This record gives sequence, structure tokens and C-alpha cells, in this order.
Amino acid sequence: MDKIEIEGGRRLSGRVTISGAKNAALPILTSALLTDGSNTYTNVPGLQDIHSIRALLENHGASVSVDGHTVRIDASGLSNSEAPYELVRKMRASILVLGPLLARLGRARVSLPGGCAIGARPINLHLNGLERLGATIALRHGYVEAEAKKLVGADIYFDTVTVTGTENLMMAAVLASGRSVLRNAAREPEIVALAQVLNQMGADVQGAGTPVITINGVDTLKPTQTEIIPDRIETGTFLVAAALTGGDVIIDRCEPDHVGATLSKLSQAGVDISVGQNTIHVRGNASVTSVDFRTEPYPGFPTDMQAQFMVLMAVADGTSMINETIFENRFIHVSELKRMGADIRINGNTAMVHGVGRLSGAPVMASDLRASACLVLAGLVAEGTTVINRVYHLDRGYEALEEKFTALGAAIRRVR
Ligand code: EPZ
Repeated sequence: MDKIEIEGGRRLSGRVTISGAKNAALPILTSALLTDGSNTYTNVPGLQDIHSIRALLENHGASVSVDGHTVRIDASGLSNSEAPYELVRKMRASILVLGPLLARLGRARVSLPGGCAIGARPINLHLNGLERLGATIALRHGYVEAEAKKLVGADIYFDTVTVTGTENLMMAAVLASGRSVLRNAAREPEIVALAQVLNQMGADVQGAGTPVITINGVDTLKPTQTEIIPDRIETGTFLVAAALTGGDVIIDRCEPDHVGATLSKLSQAGVDISVGQNTIHVRGNASVTSVDFRTEPYPGFPTDMQAQFMVLMAVADGTSMINETIFENRFIHVSELKRMGADIRINGNTAMVHGVGRLSGAPVMASDLRASACLVLAGLVAEGTTVINRVYHLDRGYEALEEKFTALGAAIRRVR
């Protein structure tokens, strides 16, 4: 199994280009199931999760070709309505096929994704919403079995803001008859990007980016061509890396508007930031001040940046209170950071982080994607060598991570 080895203490400088967003690409590639004909997607990141969604779409009968960062998907041959456990267990976002399969084929049998390291992650809101659209849902032998001759528009209220839940319901409702209203919908940029693609395909989706999304169903959709938006979590990860190492880094091809909460917390912590149209220039200071934050649905501080920002707080001047409100078990990285010398105490969903100035390199274990990114950042500021095990998590969500950090001057390498 691959490991990543980092010699800490190098200051990062130079430019880094942000890749396409994993969490925008996954629902958008899945939306190809909603139409016949060839769809083209550019700026698709080269990631393990993209290979997983490709395998899943091919399993349903779509033909998929990949040429660098361009992916073409033609679902004219859509036939198989079953998403088997072997494919779904590799990636929870596989549940995104449920809405499109039901809308196109009138039936779907999709393996339940199950829990994961960061929490239970139920899909009850996806299922309740589909039932509201007229689907009959049964859970049998670990599978969701859904059927609907024709989905019918409905008023759907989400008890909790759910990103993939909102996406699944949007994709089901575009081909339903009549009007659907999604209330307390997620407002993430990935939702807006999916709505734009659906509208390009001929759908009528209004209000994406606000808590109320209205969808007027149409009979058919047509193929489209689209560019995947920049990854805001990768952007945030590089922002924190630059700040942590007292670096001077220009982040290119990003969308500054999408990282507003992270930028604002960095400024509050004393990091010097200038924002251009698609670039952000970060200059880290010798000392960073502790700030408190809580994770929230967009536009709040993203849970997917909590672990990385915690590393900055671990070496900052003062004490930071970090409140995780989205997932019940998203502090798994804390025990590894403590092994590197961090002073962190957890009480329920709050972490109290006393800045210690410097971490020390150690062998550590990655537990999920963002926790892995957090350990890479910790390795970059630690004295000595850090070896990160189980780096396959990183390959799910960060394209060319070692290459990008190496180009910025980090001493990082993959040991195969
Ligand atoms: C998306 O997951 C992202 N994944 C996650 O990114 C991200 O952490 C998360 O949103 C929150 O921003 C993709 O976009 C593919 P949710 P998702 O449904 O949609 C509860 C990463 O590292 N909930 O918004 O699965 C749930 O338990 C990943 O890239 C229900 O109770 O998250 C959680 O507490 C990890 N019932 C909260 O809602 C449901 O039916 C938000 O989860 C659905 C969700």
C-alpha cells in the first residue's frame, strides 16, 4: 500500500493550479443518465472517485470515454437499473444514480451505501423525497428498491440540509410531471453547477443557490457540454498550506467566491490575502492567531475544511474552539495530530485546540479523505519526517497532490 513521506519545515512558494471539483463532477457526470446522446464534460479531475462513477455508469449501460480531463458519456444504452454493492461500497456518492434511474427507467435497485468513518450518513431524506414524488420504496437485502411509473411533482421539505439529497431530488424532479419545490435545499456551489447543467439540457430549475428550488418538469432532456467548476476544498487546502508554512503562494484557476468562509477565517487569523478574478494570493505570517469556527452548510464554514484548518490552529498563537455540526464523527484526525505534538481536547462535537507553535513528524494513519489532507498539511509544518499510511483516501479527492506540493517547494514523495 502506498505511503506519503514528508520532510517538514519547507516554506511554500510559487503558483498552483486548482483542478475541477470532485463533488461537482460526480452529480454532473451522473446527470448524463437523464438523456440519450453524447454529453461532454471538461475539466474533470483525474481521481479515484471519478473512476468509480465511470464504472457505475458503465454498469448501467452508458458508454463512457475519458481523454485527459475530458469525459464523454452517452446513456442511449441505459438498461440496467441495478447499482450493485461492489460498486456502491467504494463510493457513497453512488446513491446519486437513484434519482436519474427512477426518472428514466421508472425503477432502480441501488445498494444502501452504509455508514462511513465520519458518521452514520443515512439517506432517509433522499428516500422520503422520492416517495413524495410518487415512488414506492422498499428496503430489501441491503438494497433500496424504488419504482414509479411516472414521477409527479411535489412539495418537499428537507429536515436537514443535504447536498447529495438535494442533487438526487433535483435530478428526479426534472423529468417528473408538474412542479416540484425543494425547501431547505442545500446552497453549495455544486448545487448551482448541477442546476446550470440541467437547464442547459432543457430542464427548468429555478432558485438553485437559495434554500428554495423550484423545478418545472419537462418530458425529455437533450445532451450538453459543460466545464466542471474549480474545487473549492482543494483551493481551501492550498490556502491553509500556504498560511501554515509562512509561504507566498498564488492559487490559480479557482473561484474565490466559493471559499468566502475560509478566506474570512484566514484573514481573521492574520494571514495576508489578496483576491483576483480567478486567483488568490496568500502570504503567510510568522505568527497566526487562533480563531474559533463552526462548520455549517454553505455559505458557512465547510465541514470538508475543518480538519485542514485545525492544523493551522494547532500551531497558532492562542486557543481555538472548533465546533463540528455536520457529521457526528469528524474528529478522527485529532488522535493522529496529538501524536504529532498537537494539544487538542475534544468534548462532544467541540474541539479545543491550544496552539503549540510546532508539530513533530511521526508515522500517522489516514482515516478519510479530508483527514488525510490534514495529515499532509501537518507533515508540511512538522519538524522531521512524517509518514502517512493509507493514502488511497487522498487519491479519491486530490489530483496530483504530491506533484502540486513539490512544485511549491515541499519535500514530499510517495513511497510505493
Ligand atoms: C456531501 O456529502 C459531500 N459529498 C461531502 O464531501 C460533504 O462533506 C457533505 O456533503 C457536507 O458538505 C459529495 O458531495 C459527493 P449531506 P453528503 O447529505 O451529501 C445528514 C468529501 O470529503 N443526512 O449534505 O453525503 C447527514 O448524516 C465529502 O468530499 C441525513 O440525516 O452529505 C449529515 O449529518 C465527505 N439524512 C448531514 O445531513 C439524509 O438523508 C449533511 O449530509 C442525508 C443526510
